[in-house]
Amino acid sequence: MKILGIESSCDETAASVVEDGRILHSFVVQTQIDIHKQYGGVVPEVAARSHIEVINPVINQALTEAGCDWDDIDAIAVTYAPGLIGSLLVGTLAARTLAIIHRKPLYPIHHVEAHVYANFITEKRESGVNSLSNLSFPSKQPTFPMLALIVSGNHSNLVLFRNHGDYELLGQTQDDAVGEAFDKVAKIIGLPYPGGPSIAKAALDGDPQKYTLPKARLDNPYNFSFSGLKTALLRTVQRETGHDYTFPSHELPRLLNDVQRANFAASFQRTAIETLVDKTERAFRDYTPTSVVIAGGVAANQELRRQLSKRLPIIIEYAPMQLCTDNGAMIAALGYYVAQKKNPVDPYELEVVPSLSMTKTA
Ligand code: KG4
Ligand code: ZN
Repeated sequence: MKILGIESSCDETAASVVEDGRILHSFVVQTQIDIHKQYGGVVPEVAARSHIEVINPVINQALTEAGCDWDDIDAIAVTYAPGLIGSLLVGTLAARTLAIIHRKPLYPIHHVEAHVYANFITEKRESGVNSLSNLSFPSKQPTFPMLALIVSGNHSNLVLFRNHGDYELLGQTQDDAVGEAFDKVAKIIGLPYPGGPSIAKAALDGDPQKYTLPKARLDNPYNFSFSGLKTALLRTVQRETGHDYTFPSHELPRLLNDVQRANFAASFQRTAIETLVDKTERAFRDYTPTSVVIAGGVAANQELRRQLSKRLPIIIEYAPMQLCTDNGAMIAALGYYVAQKKNPVDPYELEVVPSLSMTKTA
């Protein structure tokens, strides 16, 4: 079964064709990072308008790269929740229209759950398509029960999957998501947006032990809280530059030199990653899953991968980094498993849901 997956929930317009939730046929991602960089974060209005400009070309390119015409496509899967309302509307409207015109079943997909399904893609169609040529995939699909650490710009979740569509949310962030903390800390120390990759890069030259930053203690050991860590870093930077807590954060970057910047990046990254790994290790001990996966933009972090592999007594196969940040392949992959269990929706009726957390399912 070949599914066209469409993603537009935030600042990437993306489409892919995936066969049987496993074989990647095409991979097209048009990112808006360069547009939002100048504002230091995603501007929702601008994001929606940019999606409108590229959604049709992106979908067409995904079909062309896959060597498919509409007769070859069995269904369409599209992100309907959660995300920015204007951005979600563009992708869902395109998907609804195409489902009506081409008479294809339409499956609405939860973006955060879909991130996990990047790990179920184990093959690519052998072709001359450039965008696929440098990806290397896990050797096999994860097994159940599967523990998933989902870490993105908006979510930090620990989820136990007993099967496809059958999961329990063990913990989630109580305030900032870990990706959000990377982005905000990058801004404080004067590194470019998005903060995750810039902090990871700067941290390579820094001393991760230079600053001691706090880790939140929470009643539910699987819950996360990163806002205190971010504030503690801000206070440390203010102190280090000879100022108190009233000093405006936007004036801090010009007071730091590259050595300080690298040390702050490394110390913050170490603390954030230790927190993620500690909690994942605890959930692993408590629930004894047969596989562990990481998902979402922060899963692209090499140091997180290294630390997790070191600490957990299980072999973890990581998805290619390109599949960790937002893309259409993960939407199409989850779409396949949803299509096994659920009826398609009426394309005239599909609504977006900007706020919808992952909760317990059956
Ligand atoms: O999953 P994603 O592409 O979008 C959301 O659904 O939020 O995740 C984006 C987040 C951003 O916060 C970005 O800074 C972070 O993922 N990120 C990283 C890395 N690459 C992206 N964080 C840490 N290390 C990275 N290498
Ligand atoms: Zn995402």
